[in-house]
Amino acid sequence: MKDVSIDTITQAFLDYCGDDTDPRTMFVLKKLVEHLHAFAKETQLTHAEWARGLKFATDAGIISDDERNEFVLISDVTGLSSLVDMIGSQHEGTSSSVLGPFHSVGAPMLPVGGDIKKDNEGTTVVVEGRVKDTDGKPIQGAVIELWQTAENGLYYSQDGTQDDFNLCCSMATGADGRYAITTVKPAPYKVPDDGPVGELFRATGRTPWRPSHLHFIVQVEGYKSLVTEVFANGDPYLNSDAVFGVREDLIMDYVECSDLDALPDDLEARASITAPYLKVDFDFVLVSDT
Ligand code: BEZ
Ligand code: FE
Repeated sequence: MKDVSIDTITQAFLDYCGDDTDPRTMFVLKKLVEHLHAFAKETQLTHAEWARGLKFATDAGIISDDERNEFVLISDVTGLSSLVDMIGSQHEGTSSSVLGPFHSVGAPMLPVGGDIKKDNEGTTVVVEGRVKDTDGKPIQGAVIELWQTAENGLYYSQDGTQDDFNLCCSMATGADGRYAITTVKPAPYKVPDDGPVGELFRATGRTPWRPSHLHFIVQVEGYKSLVTEVFANGDPYLNSDAVFGVREDLIMDYVECSDLDALPDDLEARASITAPYLKVDFDFVLVSDT
């Protein structure tokens, strides 16, 4: 096309593409370019604004390395990660939520009742529940991975003072589908805001804080794997989570308890738990993969 104009440039992009293309790739790219062009037209994007956007992307590349990926964070804080997640997982089981960057493969496998609180500061929390199918039948041998921040709001991988795999574990459910873990209440924390994402937060008057949460992955043959988070009812950031991870069924009460006799018998840390402690009851519902 020799005479490209505001009105014809989108069609020109399509006309320039070859026929021998993967249909899905072509469909996604076509829609992306259509929306990009429509965005520029609708906002009447100026040259300075376009250059600012490119600088934002360039800065994201510069600050990213093996440990930090600012592009994933941009996807998280614009809601794209959660949106893609929700599009791909509209089902009847427990809601999924963002994985985040702090999951480490290889956390120690503990028996049901295992203790990850150990010497960590903070209020003791006993998290207990079952993994079930959508008919309520318990699922034996489901492997649960849990990871969380310490009381200072940092994951072990961000904090040289914590041991490797501190406040992380894996656990296989028993015959009754049950799991039980002693831990501490995780603290709310800020997503990294010292780079381009921080500029975006400040430019839009948003908070970088995430509400307190426990991360879980639950996997067992025959069921869709579940990546999710469990949030604390009453947390001040539930309505402004920086990465849009909160779902109604993932908000749990941390119930204050003083009856030590009510503690599950198989808790490894049972003898050392003092009152008051907090109790979270949370069941995971998995959906069959057939
Ligand atoms: C997290 O929950 O660990 C997290 C999720 C998205 C971005 C940053 C942190
Ligand atoms: Fe997290």
